[in-house]
Amino acid sequence: MSVSKEFLLGLPKAELHLHLEGTLEPELKLRLAQKNHIDIGQSTIEEVKASYQFDSLTSFLMVYYPAMNVLQDEDDFCALAVDYLEKAKKHNVKHCELFFDPQAHTSRGVPFETVINGYYKGVMKGREMGVDAHLIMCFLRDMSADSAMETYKAALPYRDKILGIGLDSDERDNPPMKFAEVFDMAKKAGFHITMHCDIDQVNSIGHIYDVLHKIGVERIDHGTNIVEDPALVDYVIEKGIGFTNCPVSNSFVTSDMKGREIVYLLQRGAKVTVNSDDPAYFQSYISDDYYALAEKYDLSKEDMIQIAKNSFSISWISDEAKKKYIAMIDEYAKEN
Ligand code: HPA
Ligand code: ZN
Repeated sequence: MSVSKEFLLGLPKAELHLHLEGTLEPELKLRLAQKNHIDIGQSTIEEVKASYQFDSLTSFLMVYYPAMNVLQDEDDFCALAVDYLEKAKKHNVKHCELFFDPQAHTSRGVPFETVINGYYKGVMKGREMGVDAHLIMCFLRDMSADSAMETYKAALPYRDKILGIGLDSDERDNPPMKFAEVFDMAKKAGFHITMHCDIDQVNSIGHIYDVLHKIGVERIDHGTNIVEDPALVDYVIEKGIGFTNCPVSNSFVTSDMKGREIVYLLQRGAKVTVNSDDPAYFQSYISDDYYALAEKYDLSKEDMIQIAKNSFSISWISDEAKKKYIAMIDEYAKEN
C-alpha cells in the first residue's frame, strides 16, 4: 500500500458530486426532528442508523426522501450546509459544487425561497471558512418534465446563487430526454449543466449517448457504464468531458465500487474524479472515498494526484483558479 489515508486527507480536492440532502447525519436529523416536532419514527442515533438498509438506488431513495421532512425553515437548510462544509474543510476540500433538490421540499410545502436562501447562507459561511462553495440545482427525474420547468422558472430570480443545473433521483423509466427542453433552456441561459447516469440502469449506455450527443452535458455524474462503448469513451476523452464518480456509494447501491471501470477510464486519460455522493448515508466522506478506491485497486500516489487535479480541471471555475489549485496540489505533493 503506497498511499496513506493522511496523504489523501491533506491532498487539496474539489468535491463535485455531493447531495446536500445526503449529508444529513443522524445527530442533526434528530435535533431538527425535535425542534420542528416531527415524528421520524426513530429516537436514537442507533435507531436512525439501523434504518439505513439499502441495496439499490430505489431502496436508498426510499430512506432518503422521508428524512428530509425534518428540514423546515431557512436555518435548517443553512445548518445542513454548514455541517457538511465544516467536514469538507477537514478533508481539505478547497472548492465544491453542491447538489440540492428543491422539489423534494417544495412538494411538501416548503417554499422555494426558503430552500435557496437557507442553502445559500450556508454556502456563504463555507466561503468564510475557506471552502469555495457553490450550488447546483437538480431536478427530480421521477417527477414530471412540467414540474422541472416550473422549478426552473421559480429559480430564475435566484440565478446568481445557482452555478449549474443537474438531474438526479430514480433513473428507471426516466431517461435524460424527458428533460431535453428545460436543459436546453438552462444551457442557453448560461447555466452549466450535468446529469446523473447512474450505475447499471436499464439502457445505461443509451442514456449516456443521449446526454453526450443530444443534451450536450459538460459532465456526467457516475456514468461508468460508458466503458461498454469504446466510441463513447473516445469521445469523452477527446472532448475532456468529466465524470464525477462515487466509489463507496456505488458499493452500496450495486455489487461493487465500479473501481475497475474508474481505473480503466483514468488510465485512458478520461477525467474521472472521486466524490462522496451522500456521505451521511454511506458513512464515507471524500477522503474516505479516495482511500477506499486507492486501497482496493492498489493505486499510486500519482494516480490519486491525477484524480485530485481532474477534480479542479472539470470544475466550473476560471482557468486562473484551476491553475492556482493545481499548483497547490503540486506543492503538496512535493512536500508529502
Ligand atoms: N443518484 C440518483 N439520485 C440521487 C443520488 C444518486 O447517486 N444521490 C442522491 N440522490
Ligand atoms: Zn448522486
